[in-house]
Amino acid sequence: DTDTPVSAFESSLVLVSNRQPYSHRYEDDEIVVDRPVGGLTAGLDPVMQQVDGTWIAWGDGDADAEVTDDNDCVRVPPEDPSYTLRRVWLSDEAVDEYYYGYSNQVLWPLCHDLVGKTNFEDRFWSRYQEVNEQFADAVVEQADEESVVWFQDYHLALAPSHAREALPETTLFQFWHIPWPTWDTFRVCPHREELLGGLLANDLIGFHTERYVENFLACVDACFEAATVDTDSGEVEYDGETTLVRAFPLGVDAERIGELAGEREETFWPEFKREYSIPDDSRVAVGVDRLDYTKGIPERLDALEELFETRPEWRERLTYVQKSTESRSDISEYQRLQSAVDERIERLNERFATESWRPVVRIEEHLTNPELYGLYAHSDLALVTPVRDGMNLVAKEYVAAQADDDTKDGVLVLSRMTGAHGELGDTAVTIEPYDAPELAGQIEEALTMPDHERKRRMDALRASVLENDLDTWLASLLGTVQGLRRMSTQDTDD
Ligand code: G6P
Repeated sequence: DTDTPVSAFESSLVLVSNRQPYSHRYEDDEIVVDRPVGGLTAGLDPVMQQVDGTWIAWGDGDADAEVTDDNDCVRVPPEDPSYTLRRVWLSDEAVDEYYYGYSNQVLWPLCHDLVGKTNFEDRFWSRYQEVNEQFADAVVEQADEESVVWFQDYHLALAPSHAREALPETTLFQFWHIPWPTWDTFRVCPHREELLGGLLANDLIGFHTERYVENFLACVDACFEAATVDTDSGEVEYDGETTLVRAFPLGVDAERIGELAGEREETFWPEFKREYSIPDDSRVAVGVDRLDYTKGIPERLDALEELFETRPEWRERLTYVQKSTESRSDISEYQRLQSAVDERIERLNERFATESWRPVVRIEEHLTNPELYGLYAHSDLALVTPVRDGMNLVAKEYVAAQADDDTKDGVLVLSRMTGAHGELGDTAVTIEPYDAPELAGQIEEALTMPDHERKRRMDALRASVLENDLDTWLASLLGTVQGLRRMSTQDTDD
């Protein structure tokens, strides 16, 4: 897209994330490539293809080392090599302690304000430090002073300060994809100074919302007497460095989602309903989540149970379709969540199913993008009910998939506790995720909303999601970075 300043970065962009965009694994004796189907890696892969930069990430596939040169690099995508993927190799213990441990049992619950789920083991912290140094070493080998290094997310809070020592003139920035908590929550962490200090080695730190920016600045202010924090401009001066802290709400590729949603318009929905035995005259509510305790799935199922119990007229007239993806299953909190979800779905189906109808249809198999977006397009409601979520792109994808057609507009039911609520809250149906009886009533309200009201709301949501899409996010984030560049090719040419 020529509107985004992506091209200004050319090969100088070095992107660093925990997850890699292409993973190679053995299937029998063949090497197969898994590619991104959604989320961060899928969104950023086209950017890297455009600029031919380098992406540094954990090599998590058992055949990755097989397709690698002496510098741990491979050109991707395999069928049309257009940028370099460089891997960081981690032992099983390192994955256990850095990824399952510190990243997902300390930073993840802490930043989602669920302090009771944190597990501060010393070995997690030591390994997190070690792995962040490993990532920083790869960056230092790969980057020079004209590079622009883009760190992603909470797995890499310490890598910027290590990289900075060897790269004093290089532009470093980071996008934090999850919430940033208040100081009262963050101060619980014994490593608060190291984490904040690590991040402040960046020239720019991006968050999804103004609230997270405010929380972060308040944490810096409270933690470091020596820091100067300007809350109006978002500038922090600390340890001889200036860091700009700003909100850049992430969007989705709304136009593309709309196209894919309509790809099999004629046949998709009748086939889908037949395959999952959804009666023709039943309305459909959809929930799509990674199986995570932040997503409010048990709470949502409790509300549905309440609905079918107290308003029996909805039996056989509403089907809830749950598409969930297993996640981080080595962690006991995630295993508990999975059992809680399983139990509730079983109970709902045992209590209310009839011969021709099940209240909850669970989709276990992989859906392709056109199938997923087709499901969104035809569902009467989307239930997005997290107890806390940095942004939540399902809400935006659901809106983007709705065809601009009065008869088909759906209703977005959206938790106040998501980042997306800041942008979409005025026209979505706002809910409190912990209040099951209230939520049951709101689901009914959404189901009975008059046509003109549904249309009015979906028109407004659609306009917002189309305007603040993935390209807008990139343009605004990379445009800001371009303005902060310490050393650029243009400067050296002058
Ligand atoms: C969610 C978060 C992202 C994070 C990702 C990691 O999508 O919003 O910020 O990068 O999870 O998922 P993973 O499967 O790599 O643990």
